[in-house]
Amino acid sequence: MTTSKNIHWGILGCGKIAHKFVSDLLLSENSVLYACASRDVKKAKSFADQYNAVTYYDSYEDMAQCKEIDVIYVATPHTFHHGHSILCMKNGKHVLCEKPLGINKNQVLSMIDVAKTHKVFLMEAMWTAFLPTILDIQKTINAGTIGEIRHLTADFGFLAVFDPNSRLFNPSLAGGSLLDVGIYPIFISIMAMGMPSTIQTSATLSTTGVDSECNILLTYSDGSSASLYSSITCPTDTKCEIYGTKGKITIPGRFHEARHYFLKKDDLPEIKCEVGRIGFGYFHEIEHVKDCITKGIMESDTMHLEISKHLVALMDEVRRQIGVSYPIDDE
Ligand SMILES: NC(=O)c1ccc[n+]([C@@H]2O[C@H](COP(=O)([O-])OP(=O)(O)OC[C@H]3O[C@@H](n4cnc5c(N)ncnc54)[C@H](OP(=O)(O)O)[C@@H]3O)[C@@H](O)[C@H]2O)c1
Repeated sequence: MTTSKNIHWGILGCGKIAHKFVSDLLLSENSVLYACASRDVKKAKSFADQYNAVTYYDSYEDMAQCKEIDVIYVATPHTFHHGHSILCMKNGKHVLCEKPLGINKNQVLSMIDVAKTHKVFLMEAMWTAFLPTILDIQKTINAGTIGEIRHLTADFGFLAVFDPNSRLFNPSLAGGSLLDVGIYPIFISIMAMGMPSTIQTSATLSTTGVDSECNILLTYSDGSSASLYSSITCPTDTKCEIYGTKGKITIPGRFHEARHYFLKKDDLPEIKCEVGRIGFGYFHEIEHVKDCITKGIMESDTMHLEISKHLVALMDEVRRQIGVSYPIDDE
């Protein structure tokens, strides 16, 4: 472990998101890219060279045992989050794990148990929760500026090339729109409105049996509602609208990486609230994780594990209703 105030990071899996994440990590003062690990040594070396990592590994297990690393970012496909995070935590490493934290509630609960047993930090990489724009919107909502929220709409759709073996379409890799991108509309609805009392869903399934698109209608005990849509076969605006009794907040596409939003209050003209973000936006969650670890805090107060439990509980129920299950659900 590092003895200075620097936090040493390891990157587990050198895929697409790992590249974007690391380019933001390099913007974070006192965050050191210590190592990366790939199953392919050439890929590991090239990733390490590109971003100036201190070292690299051709085995996730070996990197998890590296004494110099404080925290590991798990960036593998959904089905591996559980096993890879546990591997790291059992080796005393703090973990920032890509979304979804686990593919079902059992996985998430066992990951939380391991974090508590080994006294390490564990957080789902729901970076949207740390964006300055989203934090500003939360303040606006809490201040009652738009009144009582009655309805929310959020969508996240993109067109993926159909490949039955890809992580997006393969049930063995827990593919489908819900777990990949539907988690963002669900997150924003939980953030703004909490947990619903009823969930109604419909979906289109791909030939591989995962959801290529998913509609979710959430209703709340006070009669308010949220309408959510995700897709890996149809590009959408990826926009969020929050309607209150006194006004409306619009987060334009793509809402999960927002730099600004629009606020309409009563009969006044709509105003643009420019908030900004650093890098791709991962910078803000990186700073938060670094601060928690530096201060010895084992659970984020922003993206706390209760939110991860809510997210997965909701996705479990959606999957139950649309009839999507993965081979790993039975393990
Ligand atoms: N936060 C965000 O904005 C965001 C955006 C996109 C994706 N994600 C999440 O990030 C995770 C990874 O997504 P990605 O788009 O980066 O995927 P990706 O490009 O396919 O990369 C995943 C990496 O996981 C490793 N891996 C280990 N076992 C594997 C297996 N059996 N099959 C395929 N890859 C395997 C591979 O790394 P090595 O070959 O180096 O071992 C691979 O490069 C997912 O959980 C996804 O939901 C988040």
